[in-house]
Amino acid sequence: MSKNLVVYFSRTHEQYGVGNIAEGNTAVLAKIIADKTGADIFEVRLKNDNYPTSYTPLTEIALKEKKAGARPEIMADVENFADYDTVFLGTPNWWADLPMALYTFMEAHDWSAKKVAPFVTHEGSGLSTIPSKIKAVTGAEMLEGFELYGHIAQNEREKAEEKVVKWLEKLKF
Ligand SMILES: Cc1cc2nc3c(=O)[nH]c(=O)nc-3n(C[C@H](O)[C@H](O)[C@H](O)COP(=O)(O)O)c2cc1C
Repeated sequence: MSKNLVVYFSRTHEQYGVGNIAEGNTAVLAKIIADKTGADIFEVRLKNDNYPTSYTPLTEIALKEKKAGARPEIMADVENFADYDTVFLGTPNWWADLPMALYTFMEAHDWSAKKVAPFVTHEGSGLSTIPSKIKAVTGAEMLEGFELYGHIAQNEREKAEEKVVKWLEKLKF
């Protein structure tokens, strides 16, 4: 039987258009996907999380990290990564890119026999070129990506769930 994994990065506190949130927008989708597919779930978290809790300062730091090609250290690791067939990789769209912590994660693993189904929350930029960035780093087989406004994931959960389910059906999950 195939074994699948949801890996995601997501922030709480102040986010664009949703105020101060207790559960990140991407986290909401990650949990729906894990629930609907029975996949295991893993949150990529920073080892030293010094990111600001307000939106604008966070965008500034994220841009600096992107320009510097930073690779922040992350906590723990997925057990038995090799056992998984499909990885649902979830990320907020940060400056048309993934947060640098997800590069740390991607570069730490062997993706050669994996399929990756990317999912992205954003506030207008959609997927940007995030799937091709994931492909470039992992070399994995890419499945069709999914994108949703973060405020819909956060505030319209039924709608979010319907859209996720449609996407999963297209991917034959
Ligand atoms: C550092 C940073 C950069 C962002 N850059 C973009 C962007 O370029 N385009 C966009 O549509 N949204 C951008 N956003 C908005 C986030 O993609 C959106 O709020 C997302 O749903 C946050 O997900 P999370 O709650 O899971 O962290 C940015 C947000 C942050 C914090």
